[in-house]
Amino acid sequence: MNKTGEELFSLYLKRTSDYLKVDLFEYYDEMKNNKEIIREIEEAVKDVDSFQKKFNDIFEFRFFRTLLYVLIRVTKPGTIVETGVMHGLSSKFILNALRKNNNGKLISVDLPSFFESGPANKDGYNFTLPKGKQPGWITNEDDKKIWELRIGKSLEVLPDVFDKNKEISIFIHDSEHTYETMWSELNLAWPHIKPGGICICDNIESNTSFFDFCLKVGKIPLVLPAPGNDGLMSIRFALIQK
Ligand SMILES: C[S@@+](CC[C@H](N)C(=O)[O-])C[C@H]1O[C@@H](n2cnc3c(N)ncnc32)[C@H](O)[C@@H]1O
Repeated sequence: MNKTGEELFSLYLKRTSDYLKVDLFEYYDEMKNNKEIIREIEEAVKDVDSFQKKFNDIFEFRFFRTLLYVLIRVTKPGTIVETGVMHGLSSKFILNALRKNNNGKLISVDLPSFFESGPANKDGYNFTLPKGKQPGWITNEDDKKIWELRIGKSLEVLPDVFDKNKEISIFIHDSEHTYETMWSELNLAWPHIKPGGICICDNIESNTSFFDFCLKVGKIPLVLPAPGNDGLMSIRFALIQK
């Protein structure tokens, strides 16, 4: 990606470092030079027609994912729970960082959007998996050693996930961006995030659920804009610390 992307990423790291009172730049160079993630993704996509085949650098992936990587490297979380997997790109960045930490695990929840049956989302998001692929198909065997993938509607699966994992370090919402799903996921997850833990929400622009939730729990969020599908910058994802 061009210099502007990298400059913007540095700005995000600075703002997130200030917000969380940690130095995310500690792992900036490692993330920037992480050829392993690119190599593993290129290996996974090589026979998949509908997917980009070559990636020049790590900034071609969304800030949402690269930021997750440095956040995990710096904060050394125990258990992470994410909703919304699709190809497994965010999962891949999380799992690669956890592998480097030599500690922690990821539990992901996904209601699959199969090519054959169409999008699972009821929020207008209309992408699907490539033909014949399962959610998280980009991850490899090493990733899977520290990964639990739970299939089903987040609101139906999360109660059991939290029953078995009473305390988590990070929760990430990126499944269905309807008010009901976002609001309910945030309310289910929050009591299980440990003090100092982090709650990250993607597509906060979809409705007011995230801001309503911040008001409810008395937190001022760090809001990070990102380029939308129209190429314009808009508010996109945000985080709060417990
Ligand atoms: C935006 S994609 C996730 C992208 C992924 N987090 C990343 O950054 O690489 C949203 C995913 O959520 C799934 N999904 C849709 N509705 C869901 C629901 N109610 N519960 C869980 N997953 C759902 C979709 O099938 C899709 O795989």
